[in-house]
Amino acid sequence: MILVTGGAGFIGANFVLDWLAAHDEPVLNLDKLTYAGNLENLASLANDKRHVFVQGDIGDRALMDALLTKHQPRAVVNFAAESHVDRSIHGPEDFIQTNIVGTFHLLEAVRGYFGKLEGAAKTNFRFLHVSTDEVYGSLAPNEPCFTEKHQYEPNSPYSASKAASDHLVRAYHHTYGLPVLTTNCSNNYGPYHFPEKLIPLMIVNALAGKNLPIYGDGQQIRDWLYVKDHASAIRRVLEAGKPGETYNVGGWNEKPNVEIVNTICKLLNELQPRADGKSYAEQITYVTDRAGHDRRYAIDASKIEKELGWKPAETFESGIQKTVAWYLSHADWVANVQNGSYREWVNKQYAN
Ligand code: NAD
Ligand code: DAU
Repeated sequence: MILVTGGAGFIGANFVLDWLAAHDEPVLNLDKLTYAGNLENLASLANDKRHVFVQGDIGDRALMDALLTKHQPRAVVNFAAESHVDRSIHGPEDFIQTNIVGTFHLLEAVRGYFGKLEGAAKTNFRFLHVSTDEVYGSLAPNEPCFTEKHQYEPNSPYSASKAASDHLVRAYHHTYGLPVLTTNCSNNYGPYHFPEKLIPLMIVNALAGKNLPIYGDGQQIRDWLYVKDHASAIRRVLEAGKPGETYNVGGWNEKPNVEIVNTICKLLNELQPRADGKSYAEQITYVTDRAGHDRRYAIDASKIEKELGWKPAETFESGIQKTVAWYLSHADWVANVQNGSYREWVNKQYAN
């Protein structure tokens, strides 16, 4: 079996669903269930014996030791993290605690476990750390995309905490010989994306008749990847990646934020027109920029394509169409995540 951490969040849940659709190998899913963790994302696995869920913290050394000893996973895939840049600006502490200290405790538990493995179990064991392109900082308009050799220049408390975790993972390979793999992926989108992030926020706000808040001039560029393509990349890296290596994952889909929002409005105009016949784009509002806002991210995915033969299945056009359709057909999921703490966050972040 494999141990997945953070498997009740957006990408983790998509990965677990994707894994069990492709394999019979069981998944032990360890998640703290913060505001971002949601067991509803895994509801389709309720009667599936291949999925075992444990609520807990990657920083709980005793729990991690016990789970590793009991379940003897052949791999650990670490998604667990605080993931939202704006929340890291309001309050960095949880990011330091989970992304740095938590990853350290998890690595220590895995090092202890790995040290006791023998033979094929030892040779085949892998620790895969899921990271982000934000560790590389911001690109100027004509600079080449981030390769794995690009220097780390994190700019937000979130990206700094992820960079620190990447360095720890690297050090555990170099110093202790832990067979680690690190993936640095661009912006994901798709089903179960929590509506604090750009794409789901714009869809749910548009449908609720609310403002569509674009930070600054809306010309910041992100490189978008459909979440199921990220899941397939992680499966491939786990299967064939070389221990100690890092792999950049991206969809070659650089787009300015304002274009993303207009595309969503256009799709909604077709699929669920406003009662007054006007475009959802009328709801666009330009708001104060994010502090320290990175201007451009772009991933060079040549290494994973050439060395491991991975390619995304979706274009941005097909992926965003599926995503908007998913939100239109999952109104209950959307209503359930917009609870009190969600409303508190939205009021705090968008009050002005
Ligand atoms: P998310 O916030 O939706 O989910 C994070 C999950 O981790 C939640 O289920 C949460 O309950 C859990 N968690 C948080 N702290 C924990 C702890 N201490 N112990 C155990 N579980 C804990 O995040 P996501 O968007 O699914 O991102 C998953 C991973 O992928 C993160 O490491 C993130 O940095 C990375 N990543 C995200 C993106 C993206 O676009 N969302 C892109 C590249 C990389
Ligand atoms: O690049 C990978 C990263 O992508 C991941 O590591 C992070 O976990 C993930 O949250 C995401 O970070 P971003 O900051 O790029 O994503 P977010 O959806 O928050 O914002 C995308 C862009 O949209 C960014 O330029 C800020 C802008 N934005 C965002 C929100 C929430 C707005 O203009 N308005 C908004 O209300």
